[in-house]
Amino acid sequence: MKYDQVKEDLKQSPKTWLITGVAGFIGSNLLETLLKLGQTVTGLDNFETGHQHNLDEVKSLVSEEQWNRFTFIDGDIRNLEDCQKAVTGVDYVLHQAALGSVPRSINDPIPTNETNITGFLNMLVASRDAEVTSFTYAASSSTYGDHPALPKVEENIGNPLSPYAVTKYVNELYASVFARTYGFKTIGLRYFNIFGRRQDPNGAYAAVVPKWTASLINGETVYINGDGETSRDFCYIDNAVQANILASVADDAAKDNVFNVAVGDRTTLNDLYRAIRSNLAEIIFGIKEVEPLYRDFRAGDVRHSQADISKAKTLIGYQPTHRIMDGVGEATSWYLGKKSK
Ligand SMILES: NC(=O)c1ccc[n+]([C@@H]2O[C@H](COP(=O)([O-])OP(=O)(O)OC[C@H]3O[C@@H](n4cnc5c(N)ncnc54)[C@H](O)[C@@H]3O)[C@@H](O)[C@H]2O)c1
Repeated sequence: MKYDQVKEDLKQSPKTWLITGVAGFIGSNLLETLLKLGQTVTGLDNFETGHQHNLDEVKSLVSEEQWNRFTFIDGDIRNLEDCQKAVTGVDYVLHQAALGSVPRSINDPIPTNETNITGFLNMLVASRDAEVTSFTYAASSSTYGDHPALPKVEENIGNPLSPYAVTKYVNELYASVFARTYGFKTIGLRYFNIFGRRQDPNGAYAAVVPKWTASLINGETVYINGDGETSRDFCYIDNAVQANILASVADDAAKDNVFNVAVGDRTTLNDLYRAIRSNLAEIIFGIKEVEPLYRDFRAGDVRHSQADISKAKTLIGYQPTHRIMDGVGEATSWYLGKKSK
Protein backbone atom coordinates (compact mmCIF):
# COMPACT_ATOMS: atom_id res chain seq x y z
CA MET A 1 0.00 0.00 0.00
CA LYS A 2 1.36 3.40 -0.98
CA TYR A 3 0.32 4.96 2.36
CA ASP A 4 2.56 2.56 4.31
CA GLN A 5 5.53 3.49 2.17
CA VAL A 6 4.83 7.22 2.53
CA LYS A 7 4.62 6.91 6.33
CA GLU A 8 7.92 5.01 6.37
CA ASP A 9 9.56 7.73 4.22
CA LEU A 10 8.26 10.47 6.52
CA LYS A 11 9.65 8.68 9.57
CA GLN A 12 13.05 8.45 7.86
CA SER A 13 13.02 12.05 6.73
CA PRO A 14 10.64 14.10 8.91
CA LYS A 15 9.01 17.29 7.66
CA THR A 16 7.47 20.41 9.17
CA TRP A 17 3.69 20.69 8.89
CA LEU A 18 1.06 23.32 9.59
CA ILE A 19 -2.43 22.18 10.56
CA THR A 20 -5.04 24.93 10.71
CA GLY A 21 -8.08 24.00 12.77
CA VAL A 22 -5.80 21.75 14.83
CA ALA A 23 -8.08 21.78 17.91
CA GLY A 24 -11.00 20.47 15.85
CA PHE A 25 -12.06 16.96 14.96
CA ILE A 26 -10.10 16.35 11.75
CA GLY A 27 -7.23 18.66 12.71
CA SER A 28 -6.55 16.91 16.02
CA ASN A 29 -6.55 13.53 14.30
CA LEU A 30 -4.03 14.78 11.75
CA LEU A 31 -1.93 16.07 14.64
CA GLU A 32 -1.99 12.71 16.43
CA THR A 33 -0.90 10.80 13.33
CA LEU A 34 1.83 13.23 12.34
CA LEU A 35 3.33 13.45 15.83
CA LYS A 36 3.35 9.64 16.06
CA LEU A 37 5.31 9.66 12.79
CA GLY A 38 7.94 11.93 14.37
CA GLN A 39 6.98 15.02 12.37
CA THR A 40 7.32 18.63 13.51
CA VAL A 41 3.92 20.34 13.61
CA THR A 42 2.64 23.87 14.03
CA GLY A 43 -1.07 24.15 14.79
CA LEU A 44 -3.29 27.20 14.43
CA ASP A 45 -6.75 27.52 15.98
CA ASN A 46 -9.01 30.13 17.57
CA PHE A 47 -11.18 27.57 19.42
CA GLU A 48 -14.31 28.76 17.62
CA THR A 49 -15.58 25.17 17.35
CA GLY A 50 -12.46 23.28 18.43
CA HIS A 51 -11.50 22.38 21.98
CA GLN A 52 -8.47 22.35 24.24
CA HIS A 53 -9.54 18.88 25.37
CA ASN A 54 -8.85 17.56 21.85
CA LEU A 55 -5.25 18.79 22.12
CA ASP A 56 -5.01 17.39 25.66
CA GLU A 57 -6.14 14.00 24.41
CA VAL A 58 -3.51 13.98 21.65
CA LYS A 59 -0.89 14.91 24.25
CA SER A 60 -1.93 11.89 26.30
CA LEU A 61 -1.57 9.59 23.28
CA VAL A 62 1.95 10.56 22.14
CA SER A 63 5.33 10.49 23.87
CA GLU A 64 6.76 13.58 25.54
CA GLU A 65 9.42 13.78 22.84
CA GLN A 66 6.76 13.69 20.13
CA TRP A 67 4.61 16.29 21.91
CA ASN A 68 7.61 18.62 22.18
CA ARG A 69 7.66 18.79 18.38
CA PHE A 70 4.29 20.57 18.44
CA THR A 71 3.90 24.35 18.58
CA PHE A 72 0.44 25.80 19.07
CA ILE A 73 -0.56 29.27 17.86
CA ASP A 74 -3.78 30.67 19.29
CA GLY A 75 -4.73 32.66 16.20
CA ASP A 76 -7.34 33.38 13.58
CA ILE A 77 -7.21 32.68 9.86
CA ARG A 78 -9.21 35.86 9.26
CA ASN A 79 -6.06 37.69 10.32
CA LEU A 80 -3.36 37.59 7.61
CA GLU A 81 -0.55 38.15 10.12
CA ASP A 82 -1.57 35.06 12.09
CA CYS A 83 -1.46 33.05 8.86
CA GLN A 84 1.96 34.45 7.93
CA LYS A 85 3.33 33.59 11.36
CA ALA A 86 1.89 30.08 11.15
CA VAL A 87 3.37 29.18 7.73
CA THR A 88 6.91 30.27 8.62
CA GLY A 89 9.35 27.43 8.01
CA VAL A 90 6.61 24.99 7.02
CA ASP A 91 6.91 22.33 4.28
CA TYR A 92 3.34 21.02 4.13
CA VAL A 93 0.14 22.92 4.91
CA LEU A 94 -3.05 21.07 5.87
CA HIS A 95 -5.73 23.74 5.90
CA GLN A 96 -8.71 22.47 7.90
CA ALA A 97 -9.91 25.59 9.75
CA ALA A 98 -13.41 26.63 8.72
CA LEU A 99 -16.88 27.06 10.10
CA GLY A 100 -18.55 23.77 9.27
CA SER A 101 -22.24 22.93 9.10
CA VAL A 102 -24.84 23.66 6.43
CA PRO A 103 -27.55 24.79 8.93
CA ARG A 104 -25.14 27.18 10.70
CA SER A 105 -24.45 28.87 7.36
CA ILE A 106 -28.17 29.09 6.55
CA ASN A 107 -28.93 30.67 9.95
CA ASP A 108 -26.04 33.14 9.81
CA PRO A 109 -24.11 33.24 6.52
CA ILE A 110 -21.72 36.13 7.24
CA PRO A 111 -19.39 34.42 9.79
CA THR A 112 -19.20 31.34 7.55
CA ASN A 113 -18.24 33.55 4.62
CA GLU A 114 -15.59 35.43 6.62
CA THR A 115 -13.84 32.34 7.94
CA ASN A 116 -14.28 30.07 4.96
CA ILE A 117 -13.54 32.55 2.18
CA THR A 118 -11.50 35.45 3.62
CA GLY A 119 -9.67 33.07 5.95
CA PHE A 120 -9.01 30.66 3.10
CA LEU A 121 -7.65 33.44 0.88
CA ASN A 122 -5.37 34.61 3.71
CA MET A 123 -4.01 31.10 4.06
CA LEU A 124 -3.44 30.79 0.30
CA VAL A 125 -1.61 34.13 0.11
CA ALA A 126 0.53 33.40 3.17
CA SER A 127 1.40 29.90 1.93
CA ARG A 128 2.20 31.09 -1.59
CA ASP A 129 4.48 33.83 -0.22
CA ALA A 130 6.22 31.39 2.13
CA GLU A 131 6.79 29.04 -0.85
CA VAL A 132 5.54 25.98 1.01
CA THR A 133 6.05 22.64 -0.75
CA SER A 134 2.39 21.70 -0.70
CA PHE A 135 -0.99 23.07 0.33
CA THR A 136 -3.84 20.63 0.94
CA TYR A 137 -7.24 21.97 1.99
CA ALA A 138 -10.56 20.69 3.26
CA ALA A 139 -13.10 20.96 0.46
CA SER A 140 -16.56 19.44 0.74
CA SER A 141 -19.03 17.09 -0.91
CA SER A 142 -21.57 19.92 -0.50
CA THR A 143 -20.05 21.33 -3.69
CA TYR A 144 -22.03 18.71 -5.64
CA GLY A 145 -25.17 20.62 -4.64
CA ASP A 146 -28.22 19.63 -6.64
CA HIS A 147 -26.37 17.58 -9.27
CA PRO A 148 -28.41 14.36 -9.45
CA ALA A 149 -25.79 11.87 -10.68
CA LEU A 150 -24.61 9.07 -8.40
CA PRO A 151 -21.85 8.27 -7.70
CA LYS A 152 -20.38 11.77 -7.59
CA VAL A 153 -17.52 12.36 -10.01
CA GLU A 154 -15.27 15.35 -9.35
CA GLU A 155 -15.88 17.05 -12.69
CA ASN A 156 -19.71 17.16 -12.48
CA ILE A 157 -21.13 19.57 -9.92
CA GLY A 158 -24.53 21.25 -9.61
CA ASN A 159 -25.84 24.41 -7.96
CA PRO A 160 -24.85 24.94 -4.31
CA LEU A 161 -27.70 24.41 -1.83
CA SER A 162 -26.38 26.49 1.09
CA PRO A 163 -24.05 29.40 1.91
CA TYR A 164 -21.60 26.82 3.31
CA ALA A 165 -21.54 25.02 -0.05
CA VAL A 166 -20.85 28.34 -1.79
CA THR A 167 -17.85 28.97 0.46
CA LYS A 168 -16.37 25.55 -0.18
CA TYR A 169 -16.84 25.94 -3.92
CA VAL A 170 -15.24 29.39 -3.81
CA ASN A 171 -12.23 27.75 -2.12
CA GLU A 172 -11.86 25.52 -5.15
CA LEU A 173 -12.19 28.48 -7.52
CA TYR A 174 -9.52 30.44 -5.64
CA ALA A 175 -7.28 27.40 -5.56
CA SER A 176 -7.46 26.94 -9.33
CA VAL A 177 -6.92 30.68 -9.93
CA PHE A 178 -3.80 30.55 -7.73
CA ALA A 179 -2.48 27.70 -9.88
CA ARG A 180 -3.14 29.58 -13.13
CA THR A 181 -2.08 33.04 -11.95
CA TYR A 182 0.83 32.36 -9.63
CA GLY A 183 1.74 28.76 -10.42
CA PHE A 184 0.82 27.88 -6.80
CA LYS A 185 -0.75 24.43 -7.12
CA THR A 186 -2.86 22.96 -4.35
CA ILE A 187 -4.99 19.90 -3.65
CA GLY A 188 -8.58 20.08 -2.36
CA LEU A 189 -10.08 17.09 -0.57
CA ARG A 190 -13.84 16.91 -0.91
CA TYR A 191 -14.72 15.20 2.35
CA PHE A 192 -17.92 13.14 2.48
CA ASN A 193 -19.36 12.97 6.04
CA ILE A 194 -16.20 12.23 7.97
CA PHE A 195 -16.77 10.74 11.44
CA GLY A 196 -14.80 9.22 14.31
CA ARG A 197 -13.03 9.94 17.60
CA ARG A 198 -13.05 13.54 18.82
CA GLN A 199 -15.91 14.66 16.58
CA ASP A 200 -17.97 17.00 18.75
CA PRO A 201 -21.29 15.48 19.90
CA ASN A 202 -22.47 18.76 21.45
CA GLY A 203 -24.11 21.89 20.14
CA ALA A 204 -26.84 22.71 17.67
CA TYR A 205 -24.65 21.90 14.68
CA ALA A 206 -23.25 18.52 15.72
CA ALA A 207 -22.96 15.87 12.99
CA VAL A 208 -25.19 12.77 13.08
CA VAL A 209 -22.76 10.07 14.19
CA PRO A 210 -21.51 11.82 17.37
CA LYS A 211 -24.90 13.36 18.11
CA TRP A 212 -26.86 10.10 17.88
CA THR A 213 -24.20 8.12 19.70
CA ALA A 214 -24.12 10.60 22.58
CA SER A 215 -27.94 10.83 22.67
CA LEU A 216 -28.30 7.05 22.87
CA ILE A 217 -25.62 6.80 25.57
CA ASN A 218 -27.32 9.57 27.58
CA GLY A 219 -30.83 8.16 27.16
CA GLU A 220 -31.96 11.15 25.06
CA THR A 221 -34.24 11.13 22.01
CA VAL A 222 -32.60 10.65 18.63
CA TYR A 223 -34.19 12.79 15.91
CA ILE A 224 -33.97 11.80 12.27
CA ASN A 225 -34.62 14.56 9.76
CA GLY A 226 -36.98 13.22 7.08
CA ASP A 227 -37.89 9.57 6.57
CA GLY A 228 -34.42 8.21 7.29
CA GLU A 229 -33.91 7.02 3.73
CA THR A 230 -31.57 9.94 3.04
CA SER A 231 -28.19 8.37 2.33
CA ARG A 232 -24.55 9.35 2.71
CA ASP A 233 -21.09 8.00 2.00
CA PHE A 234 -19.92 8.02 5.63
CA CYS A 235 -16.14 8.03 5.83
CA TYR A 236 -14.09 7.13 8.90
CA ILE A 237 -11.49 9.63 10.08
CA ASP A 238 -8.51 7.32 9.40
CA ASN A 239 -9.35 7.43 5.68
CA ALA A 240 -9.38 11.25 5.74
CA VAL A 241 -6.04 11.38 7.54
CA GLN A 242 -4.58 9.03 4.94
CA ALA A 243 -5.86 11.22 2.07
CA ASN A 244 -4.28 14.34 3.62
CA ILE A 245 -0.88 12.72 4.02
CA LEU A 246 -0.92 11.24 0.51
CA ALA A 247 -2.02 14.56 -1.01
CA SER A 248 0.79 16.41 0.77
CA VAL A 249 3.51 14.28 -0.78
CA ALA A 250 1.81 13.90 -4.18
CA ASP A 251 3.81 14.75 -7.26
CA ASP A 252 3.12 17.73 -9.49
CA ALA A 253 0.86 15.77 -11.85
CA ALA A 254 -1.67 15.26 -9.04
CA LYS A 255 -1.72 18.92 -8.02
CA ASP A 256 -4.19 21.65 -8.98
CA ASN A 257 -6.91 19.07 -8.42
CA VAL A 258 -9.78 18.15 -6.14
CA PHE A 259 -10.42 14.61 -4.94
CA ASN A 260 -13.37 12.89 -3.35
CA VAL A 261 -12.50 11.51 0.08
CA ALA A 262 -15.03 8.82 0.96
CA VAL A 263 -15.40 5.07 0.81
CA GLY A 264 -17.62 4.67 -2.24
CA ASP A 265 -20.52 3.16 -0.27
CA ARG A 266 -23.95 4.56 0.47
CA THR A 267 -25.70 4.09 3.83
CA THR A 268 -29.14 5.37 4.78
CA LEU A 269 -29.69 7.26 8.04
CA ASN A 270 -31.97 4.41 9.16
CA ASP A 271 -29.18 1.87 8.63
CA LEU A 272 -26.68 4.13 10.36
CA TYR A 273 -29.01 4.52 13.34
CA ARG A 274 -29.49 0.74 13.61
CA ALA A 275 -25.71 0.16 13.40
CA ILE A 276 -24.93 2.63 16.18
CA ARG A 277 -27.77 1.24 18.31
CA SER A 278 -26.70 -2.37 17.88
CA ASN A 279 -23.09 -1.52 18.77
CA LEU A 280 -24.23 0.23 21.93
CA ALA A 281 -26.73 -2.52 22.76
CA GLU A 282 -23.80 -4.84 23.45
CA ILE A 283 -22.82 -2.58 26.33
CA ILE A 284 -25.90 -0.65 27.43
CA PHE A 285 -28.89 -2.68 28.56
CA GLY A 286 -32.29 -1.82 27.05
CA ILE A 287 -31.10 0.18 24.06
CA LYS A 288 -32.01 -2.48 21.50
CA GLU A 289 -35.66 -1.37 21.38
CA VAL A 290 -35.11 2.40 21.40
CA GLU A 291 -36.66 3.98 18.32
CA PRO A 292 -35.78 7.38 16.82
CA LEU A 293 -38.28 10.21 16.27
CA TYR A 294 -38.75 11.34 12.69
CA ARG A 295 -39.22 15.03 11.92
CA ASP A 296 -39.16 17.31 8.85
CA PHE A 297 -36.44 17.20 6.23
CA ARG A 298 -33.76 19.83 6.81
CA ALA A 299 -33.22 22.74 4.40
CA GLY A 300 -30.05 22.52 2.34
CA ASP A 301 -29.61 18.76 2.70
CA VAL A 302 -29.11 16.71 -0.45
CA ARG A 303 -31.12 13.47 -0.60
CA HIS A 304 -28.40 11.03 -1.58
CA SER A 305 -24.66 11.18 -1.68
CA GLN A 306 -22.07 8.65 -2.74
CA ALA A 307 -18.59 9.19 -4.10
CA ASP A 308 -16.64 7.78 -6.95
CA ILE A 309 -13.17 7.57 -5.38
CA SER A 310 -11.29 6.32 -8.41
CA LYS A 311 -9.56 9.65 -9.07
CA ALA A 312 -7.95 9.71 -5.60
CA LYS A 313 -7.04 6.03 -5.94
CA THR A 314 -5.34 6.59 -9.27
CA LEU A 315 -3.59 9.92 -8.71
CA ILE A 316 -2.57 9.87 -5.04
CA GLY A 317 -2.77 6.15 -4.18
CA TYR A 318 -5.69 6.52 -1.74
CA GLN A 319 -7.03 3.19 -0.40
CA PRO A 320 -9.60 3.55 2.38
CA THR A 321 -8.85 1.18 5.25
CA HIS A 322 -12.22 1.50 7.01
CA ARG A 323 -15.70 0.94 5.67
CA ILE A 324 -18.57 2.48 7.58
CA MET A 325 -19.24 -0.38 9.99
CA ASP A 326 -15.54 -0.67 10.94
CA GLY A 327 -15.60 3.05 11.71
CA VAL A 328 -18.89 2.99 13.61
CA GLY A 329 -17.50 0.22 15.84
CA GLU A 330 -14.35 2.18 16.66
CA ALA A 331 -16.20 5.48 17.10
CA THR A 332 -18.81 3.93 19.41
CA SER A 333 -16.07 2.52 21.64
CA TRP A 334 -14.41 5.92 21.82
CA TYR A 335 -17.63 7.72 22.86
CA LEU A 336 -18.35 5.02 25.43
CA GLY A 337 -14.82 5.40 26.79
CA LYS A 338 -15.35 9.15 27.19
CA LYS A 339 -18.61 8.57 29.01
CA SER A 340 -17.04 6.20 31.51
CA LYS A 341 -14.27 8.66 32.47
N1 LIG B 1 -16.42 16.63 9.27
C1 LIG B 1 -16.90 16.50 8.05
O1 LIG B 1 -17.67 15.60 7.74
C2 LIG B 1 -16.53 17.49 6.97
C3 LIG B 1 -17.11 17.34 5.69
C4 LIG B 1 -16.75 18.24 4.70
C5 LIG B 1 -15.81 19.22 4.95
N2 LIG B 1 -15.29 19.36 6.21
C6 LIG B 1 -14.31 20.42 6.44
O2 LIG B 1 -13.21 19.88 7.15
C7 LIG B 1 -12.61 20.87 7.97
C8 LIG B 1 -12.49 20.38 9.41
O3 LIG B 1 -13.79 20.08 9.88
P1 LIG B 1 -14.06 19.38 11.28
O4 LIG B 1 -15.17 18.42 11.07
O5 LIG B 1 -12.80 18.92 11.89
O6 LIG B 1 -14.69 20.60 12.10
P2 LIG B 1 -14.26 21.22 13.51
O7 LIG B 1 -15.27 22.30 13.77
O8 LIG B 1 -14.10 20.17 14.53
O9 LIG B 1 -12.85 21.85 13.19
C9 LIG B 1 -12.66 23.13 12.62
C10 LIG B 1 -11.58 23.84 13.43
O10 LIG B 1 -11.32 25.13 12.84
C11 LIG B 1 -11.21 26.07 13.88
N3 LIG B 1 -11.54 27.41 13.37
C12 LIG B 1 -12.77 27.87 13.00
N4 LIG B 1 -12.67 29.15 12.61
C13 LIG B 1 -11.38 29.51 12.74
C14 LIG B 1 -10.66 30.70 12.51
N5 LIG B 1 -11.29 31.81 12.06
N6 LIG B 1 -9.32 30.73 12.75
C15 LIG B 1 -8.69 29.63 13.23
N7 LIG B 1 -9.32 28.46 13.46
C16 LIG B 1 -10.64 28.40 13.23
C17 LIG B 1 -12.21 25.61 14.92
O11 LIG B 1 -11.98 26.17 16.21
C18 LIG B 1 -12.01 24.11 14.88
O12 LIG B 1 -11.01 23.68 15.76
C19 LIG B 1 -13.48 22.12 7.79
O13 LIG B 1 -12.89 22.91 6.77
C20 LIG B 1 -14.80 21.57 7.30
O14 LIG B 1 -15.53 22.52 6.55
C21 LIG B 1 -15.63 18.51 7.22
